[in-house]
Amino acid sequence: MSLKARQQNILKLQAAKAAVDLIRPKLSSDSIVGVGTGSTANCFIDALAEIKNHFDAAVASSQSSAERLSQLGIKVLELNAVNEVLVYVDGADEVDPNRALIKGGGGALTREKIVAASAQEFICIVDESKLVDMLGKFPLPVEVIPMARGLVARDLTAMGGQPILRSGFSTDNGNLILDVREFLIPDPAAAETAINNLVGCVCNGIFAAQAADQVIVARPDGVTLL
Ligand code: 5RP
Repeated sequence: MSLKARQQNILKLQAAKAAVDLIRPKLSSDSIVGVGTGSTANCFIDALAEIKNHFDAAVASSQSSAERLSQLGIKVLELNAVNEVLVYVDGADEVDPNRALIKGGGGALTREKIVAASAQEFICIVDESKLVDMLGKFPLPVEVIPMARGLVARDLTAMGGQPILRSGFSTDNGNLILDVREFLIPDPAAAETAINNLVGCVCNGIFAAQAADQVIVARPDGVTLL
């Protein structure tokens, strides 16, 4: 692993620990914690395991996170089995100054958006490399129904993007991902709605309607809140 990747991992760990410190006072024995997907979310899962007796259970945004939670002794429930998710904690691929996000680099965007929408509060945890002035350098993940992949790809091309099928990948929902390159997003809320309206699109990775309530940003000189 390169020095840069090692330093980034340390920052992810610091953001994850800061999230645990932030939520710990809000937890009670019946609290449900929503948990995201990806390497930063994995750091959060590991830190959360240290306070697993402070809450009831977790709801996971992917099979892989559910497995990691279970392996660490944290009870995992289906979203439909719980009434209320206290807080959802997850990473992001890009964060803009209004806390709008691009997510879905790990392909879990639809379940992430569902758990985030179910939670009272969405806390995003990132290292400083994820901060951008405008969303869109990171290819935008769009989950599509398999039979509609050509249709949605043509629509996304007409909107100005360059959709590429994520090779050899299918989501936990059995769908495909188109990663849309060259697609700058000056108005995240409008782009999120326009792409969601494409027939055959299940969900897209812009989180503007469901922006983060707080973003914990880890930098070499400390952790700040956005
Ligand atoms: C997964 C996601 C992740 O939160 C996003 O890709 C960031 O991942 P990482 O923490 O590994 O950089 O949206 O679908």
